[in-house]
Amino acid sequence: MDRRITVIGAGNVGATVAQEIARKDLAKEVVLVDVKEGTAEGKALDMWQTSSILNFDSRVVGVTNDYLRTRNSSVIVITAGIPRKPGMSRDDLIKTNAAIVKEVTERSVKYSPDAIIIVVSNPLDVMTYAAYLAANKSPNKVFGMAGVLDTGRYKAFLAEALNISPKDIHALLLGSHGDTMVPLKRYTSVSGIPVTDLLGDDVLDKIIERTRKGGGELVNLMGTSAWYAPGAAVAAMVDAIIRDQHRVFPVCAYVDGEYGLKDIYLGVPVILGKNGIERIIHLNLDEHEMKLLMDSAKSVKEVMNVLDEMKLF
Ligand code: LAC
Repeated sequence: MDRRITVIGAGNVGATVAQEIARKDLAKEVVLVDVKEGTAEGKALDMWQTSSILNFDSRVVGVTNDYLRTRNSSVIVITAGIPRKPGMSRDDLIKTNAAIVKEVTERSVKYSPDAIIIVVSNPLDVMTYAAYLAANKSPNKVFGMAGVLDTGRYKAFLAEALNISPKDIHALLLGSHGDTMVPLKRYTSVSGIPVTDLLGDDVLDKIIERTRKGGGELVNLMGTSAWYAPGAAVAAMVDAIIRDQHRVFPVCAYVDGEYGLKDIYLGVPVILGKNGIERIIHLNLDEHEMKLLMDSAKSVKEVMNVLDEMKLF
């Protein structure tokens, strides 16, 4: 196996993604790229020095802006850009991050034309759209990580409220990676038992609200955005792709006709395998769920308009 996986951006999220991928031995080589001289090199060296202790073989290397070193990657994870500070919404980041995402996508695709691209930079839905425009490839190979993280938070809160293992909680979430995301009660179960049989509406509604603001809760606590759960979520997606697992995950995908929506990146349930998004799964949403999804799509469209006005593409 001579697989190479590239992670662009060696901040907290990028470094954690690289570490999780290496620890799962998903690649022969993990290349961490950053703009700041020494950052990726240092973090990669530190990580590589854990290999004998943590028992993995993936060689982790770091480079400064050397995209040639990333050539022929199977998967490229884009975490580049600035994170949120307290008081900021993810949408406030667009002006800075859109240009960064465009540039790093173009530079990396040049050397890895067949790579699957996973976007993590915020505002997630619109940055994934920007990467899609910059990469100029089939949308099943360009998508964003958000739903695995957001359902991870939702499941953690549910596990706590129920005093039940998070492993037995199954849940789905639609829409944007923002305050309008749509956790779905009707599609949440505990080992097949509808969650609504176990928790009252008042408790569930509070958990849903906390999930929507889950990223912000962490920004307020730490002064910057989260990395452990985002890193683990990306690694789970990479695992599904590399091992062609056909896992069903909520993913920020290109929606063009499904759910009555057109030409937008948004969280929907998909099957993830070696071709990236193998298929988008259609749900028969009720009227209320559909309205929440449309509201979420509307908020993404507003941020897309800001991207349009920037005239980057
Ligand atoms: C969060 C950031 C990564 O939700 O968007 O924590």
